[in-house]
Amino acid sequence: MKRERQLVIDYVDYESPEELEPLDRELVQEAIRAQEGSYSPYSHFRVGAALRLEDGTIVRGANQENNAYPAGLCAERTAMFHAGAYYPNTAFDTIAIVGSDSNGICETPATPCGECRQVMAEYQTKFGKPLKIILVGRNKIQKFFKVDDILPFIFESLKAGEVF
Ligand code: THU
Repeated sequence: MKRERQLVIDYVDYESPEELEPLDRELVQEAIRAQEGSYSPYSHFRVGAALRLEDGTIVRGANQENNAYPAGLCAERTAMFHAGAYYPNTAFDTIAIVGSDSNGICETPATPCGECRQVMAEYQTKFGKPLKIILVGRNKIQKFFKVDDILPFIFESLKAGEVF
């Protein structure tokens, strides 16, 4: 039978980093510092990501651009792929993301592109643990508690634990 459905997404808005828990505040600072690694001569948009693993390790990433545009990579994926390659058995806990243009940190939080969301979903499934996401803007920070909340109806054929 036909049914109208709604999705409800729980997330938290913060006005300043001071309102965050200490570990999250530190991660936001790491994401801001990670922007120093941005190689963005084409867009001039500097994105930093900081990924905290379940053992507390923090992995940074920054966007890497290329003269042949599609060859570049977003900040989030440089961080996640580094962590996936270097700490393959340590689950991802939280990723913080921040973007800056010539006026500094963007007023509204930079949100991950669709491909980065799909990669987040993959690691969330791989580790069987929700991956939290913190989006950082100049006047607003948003925290989401699982990838499903920024990527509803995730494509999943790989089930948790089935790692080849
Ligand atoms: N970018 C990221 O690094 N992360 C995002 O979530 C969105 C976009 C990068 C890609 C490119 O280097 C620049 O920002 C402009 O799109």
